[in-house]
Order: sequence, then structure tokens, then C-alpha cells
Amino acid sequence: MSFVEVHFLPDNKKITVRPGTTLLDAGRRAKVNIRTRCGAKAACLMCKVHVVDQSGLAPMNTNERLKLGTQADEGYRLACQAKVVGPVQLTVPEDPLKAAIRAQLARQQEDNFL
Ligand code: FES
Repeated sequence: MSFVEVHFLPDNKKITVRPGTTLLDAGRRAKVNIRTRCGAKAACLMCKVHVVDQSGLAPMNTNERLKLGTQADEGYRLACQAKVVGPVQLTVPEDPLKAAIRAQLARQQEDNFL
């Protein structure tokens, strides 16, 4: 059986997996932090990732498309549902809490320089 490469950004980590592996499982094996809360049941939407070229992924199932709504047309996929069928590169969005803290720290630094 052949293996395919999954490339995670912004961590720049790569791993080879068997076709049919979900992006979430590939991420776990690559030690990439993809947030989850629902146990991969397409319920929490925390595992959203962005995939520009989706030719390396199986088509969305109906549940994934319904959950994502308009984001399905903007390149988002649920990592727990999207299955690898060929080489794929994806971006894991920054944790919103970390992003908020980073923005706050940046504002404080700006204030200190004024
Ligand atoms: S892990 Fe909850 S929607 Fe994917």
C-alpha cells in the first residue's frame, strides 16, 4: 500500500500516512496540536483547518458540509472528517485564546513605547 504526505503549516511538520487517514489522526501522529472537544464527531467545529488545494482530500460528506456552512466554500475542512487520498498541505488556525493574548501583549508593548 502506498503512503501519502501531509504537510502541516505553520508548524512546517510533515508526515506520511495511509490513504483514508483523517487529518486529525495525521496531526496527532505528527504531534501537531489540532483542537478538539467532541471526540471527532463533527460536533464541536474546533478542528477546523484551512486547505487551499483539496485535491488530496476525499470530498466532504454531507454532515461536514452542513456543519461548515459557508466556510465549506472558503477552503475550510473539519480535520476529524477530512480523509487523505493524496498529498495535501493545510494550515491549522491559531488558537483564538492564544491569538487574543498575543494581541494584548502587542498592545501593551506599543503603549510602553509611547
Ligand atoms: S473534533 Fe469536533 S468537529 Fe472535529
